[in-house]
Amino acid sequence: MDYESINCGQLDRTFIGKSVSAYGWCRRIRDHGGKLFIDMGDRFGETQLVFESQAKELADKLGKEYVIQAFGKVKKRDEDTVDRSIATGGVEIFVEKFEVVSTSLPLPFELIDEKSRSLANEDLRMKFRYLDLRRRQMIKNIEFRDIITKQIRKYFWDNGFMELETPTLVKDTYETGSRTFIVPSRLSKNAYYSLAQSPQLYKQLCMVGGIDKYFQIARCYRDEDQRIDRQPEFTQVDIEVSFRNEEYIKCLIEELIKAIFKQALHNDTRIDFPVLQYKEAMEKYGSDKPDLRFDSMIFDITGEMKSSGYNVLKRIIESKGFVKAAAFPADFSANSGGSRLNKQYMLKLIETAKGFGLKGLTWLYAAHGKIESDPMSISESIGSDVCDSLMQKMRLRDGDIIIIGSDLSERLLLEALGKLRKLVGDKLQKYNKEYAFAWITDFPLFDKDEVTGKLKPAHNPFTAPTKDTEKYLDSEPEKVIARQYDIVLNGEEIGGGSIRIHDPELQKKSLSVIGMDQSAISSTFGFLIDALSYGAPIHGGIALGLDRFISMLFNSENIRDFILFPKNHKQESLLDSAPTKISKKRLLSDYNIKQEDIE
Ligand code: AMO
Repeated sequence: MDYESINCGQLDRTFIGKSVSAYGWCRRIRDHGGKLFIDMGDRFGETQLVFESQAKELADKLGKEYVIQAFGKVKKRDEDTVDRSIATGGVEIFVEKFEVVSTSLPLPFELIDEKSRSLANEDLRMKFRYLDLRRRQMIKNIEFRDIITKQIRKYFWDNGFMELETPTLVKDTYETGSRTFIVPSRLSKNAYYSLAQSPQLYKQLCMVGGIDKYFQIARCYRDEDQRIDRQPEFTQVDIEVSFRNEEYIKCLIEELIKAIFKQALHNDTRIDFPVLQYKEAMEKYGSDKPDLRFDSMIFDITGEMKSSGYNVLKRIIESKGFVKAAAFPADFSANSGGSRLNKQYMLKLIETAKGFGLKGLTWLYAAHGKIESDPMSISESIGSDVCDSLMQKMRLRDGDIIIIGSDLSERLLLEALGKLRKLVGDKLQKYNKEYAFAWITDFPLFDKDEVTGKLKPAHNPFTAPTKDTEKYLDSEPEKVIARQYDIVLNGEEIGGGSIRIHDPELQKKSLSVIGMDQSAISSTFGFLIDALSYGAPIHGGIALGLDRFISMLFNSENIRDFILFPKNHKQESLLDSAPTKISKKRLLSDYNIKQEDIE
């Protein structure tokens, strides 16, 4: 007899009466006396198998997640047993015969989805990632990643870009980036490669080589402390172009994102890409990656607070410090305790603020058209005139909660309020839109290292200064503005890029500002300086963090859920227990690492 071969998500009523065969995993097994029901699943869906009489006797030995091939006839389900939640829910296969492809050990955890409270812990899921990948939610995440990646490739192919690969075993240029992973060379004694942090220098060399439109879906490696949005190895959509400016690159990315929304997400909502200068973003939102799904802004109220009677703030102002505030539409009322932001939450927030470096935080609320506080003495000592001017300046409405911070360092204060703004915004969830993109531009070219006090590149040392500020490179480098642009989505930096330096002398100068002398420049970046000396085009590019972008599109901050085999917060792979120790003998004989280096 001929059986039509199908997958587990394919069956519908058009198959009724047909003989079919399918492979799949035995997900749920229910014995109803005379009949055995098995939901057989694969990545396409689930199909109900019915075993009766002889088939049932044989099937009684099947266990969860056994792989089988079932053959049988498709029948319509009784109306009262139809499962409308799945596409195959109207039919079932009456099994005539089946074969066991493989058996399974008892499962270490149930393959159920996120919504369920009993979802196994992430460590266990990472250890048995191949099982976790069978869960419907993980299948969705990984399929989503595949769809977006294909769309990205298509976009760049269609726009005349060459998809190329750059080396990942590269020269160690530790002076300028995050910490790198190093790889010992077997053939060169005491010599090491670095794993590429990004294709940055090689894509620039491609431009010098005349390749004017390059892109790559590139693996990158960085030895950084892990966070929910970071992995030691991750993927960038990496782009570089010649003879174009920042407007071209920004537009290229905007059109890519619009294409993804339209063609991959089937989402027709209008997407805007507002541009904020770094300074403005810091002043208004306390962050260079502001979440613009909600409006709350930071206001400088140092001037207003000068005439207040609230001593805590007055003392800071007298010492030339700053006072700033942000308000949130919290529907707060002193009696009800508010919707989500109640007094308890605000007391916890004060503790959180201390963790961000603020010595304290004052909170007030608007009610009956004026500012009140708990205890009342705070708003009383601030004074009704000051409160009225705050009402006006911050356009406060009844129910708003206001947080006020003060510090001698404006930057610390803004950054702390920025983090609090994001925490409270996420808690309230009063978003105006689902996706809020923004470009952040006009960053300073250099940053001061808080520990050493030395200047370091704010992004990377190959970014060109703006024409207007290049003149400050020698005298006041902190004033130099970079031709850098970062793209932000819902408060996460999903990408960044710049127009690069193409003049070898300017490149040397920029490296000298971060403290590299001529010999360090030539031993570390001599190959780049050389390349720029043989006719370098104007060039620039950008890289999107693919894992981050995809997780943000899916409204999840955990990039691990969108990576097939992620590492945990200690950079360990729980699946195969990498990293592992390597014997002294092997290190010595295979990698030439000397005894004194090992101990
Ligand atoms: P940058 O260092 O900003 O730029 O990286 C670009 C984007 O990559 C993502 N990203 C990460 N994602 C996951 N885990 C990590 N550890 C991680 N680190 C970075 C972020 C970030 O915005 N060469 C430049 C790009 C260029 O100028 O063209 C670069 O690498 O989303």
